[in-house]
Amino acid sequence: DFDGGRPTGRFSNGRVPVDFFSEYYGLKKTVPAYLDPNYNITDFATGVNFASAGTGYDNTTSAVLNVIPLWKEVDYYKEYQERLRSYLGVQKANEIISESVYLVSMGTNDFLENYYLLPTTRLCYTVQAFEDHLIGLAKQFVGEIYNLGARKISLAGIPPMGCLPLERTINLGAISECNEEYNNVAVEFNVKINNLINQLNKELPGIQVVFSNPYNILHQMIKRPTIFGMDVTSKACCGTGLVEMSYLCVLDSSFSCSNADKYVFWDSFHPTEKTNEVMAQHLFKSVLYKFL
Ligand SMILES: *[C@@H]1O[C@H](CO)[C@@H](O)[C@H](O)[C@H]1NC(C)=O
Ligand SMILES: *[C@@H]1O[C@H](CO)[C@@H](O)[C@H](O)[C@H]1NC(C)=O
Repeated sequence: DFDGGRPTGRFSNGRVPVDFFSEYYGLKKTVPAYLDPNYNITDFATGVNFASAGTGYDNTTSAVLNVIPLWKEVDYYKEYQERLRSYLGVQKANEIISESVYLVSMGTNDFLENYYLLPTTRLCYTVQAFEDHLIGLAKQFVGEIYNLGARKISLAGIPPMGCLPLERTINLGAISECNEEYNNVAVEFNVKINNLINQLNKELPGIQVVFSNPYNILHQMIKRPTIFGMDVTSKACCGTGLVEMSYLCVLDSSFSCSNADKYVFWDSFHPTEKTNEVMAQHLFKSVLYKFL
């Protein structure tokens, strides 16, 4: 439904939350991926995306689906800073680096593609110990980008991950119901992220970290979709809606729904553009406007 059907790396039928945030800040309507060969530093100077779907705070998470680990994203970001300085000069580039908003959203894959999938991880950590381990990595990550000049940072909470269609499909306790254990872990983890944010704001001079928590708004959309003009929450639009993700959505498109705007989820793990827009509007109005 987006950009003439050209694949852009977004795990959705259209724009993802950062695209909407960029627009709300008065910048461009889509944020290009750093590795997309169709763009260069001229485009990246007003916003750039280093995200990799399927990655997480923990190195083990990115290894599961062989995607870009967080440390590598930081490497690309360092390379970007150098390119920005040679393009705009040191002074202007440094101004952009310190005035930019850094939108950080991770964690769901650390639980669902790592902790709950790999017995080796569960042998090492109780779920609370794993949450603390991720919080330690998040703290280290923010420290790294702070040392590189980042000051305005949004750390996202994690969504009600027990209600993702894939997790409903494989919920052996109650098939097609939300996995409440996973939702409880999300709530517990979000409290810890919020505590970390308070700590970072005290410890690092000049930093401004805010908490963008999508949990409640997404939970509301899943429980009462009609309020948002939507119908379907337990199944995704693409394919059968039960398990397909990513490229599988292209392969069996004959099953896909005709109007994705009626669905909360595009694939069994990721929201539709419509859902992304509702979440982005809510988070911008309640939190991210502070960086205007
Ligand atoms: C980036 O690409 C645009 C359009 O393709 C071109 O005009 C511009 O010179 C390029 N900028 C750099 C710094 O390479
Ligand atoms: C993750 O892997 C990178 C590259 O091997 C390494 O530098 C880094 O220390 C690892 N992080 C942790 C927390 O082990």
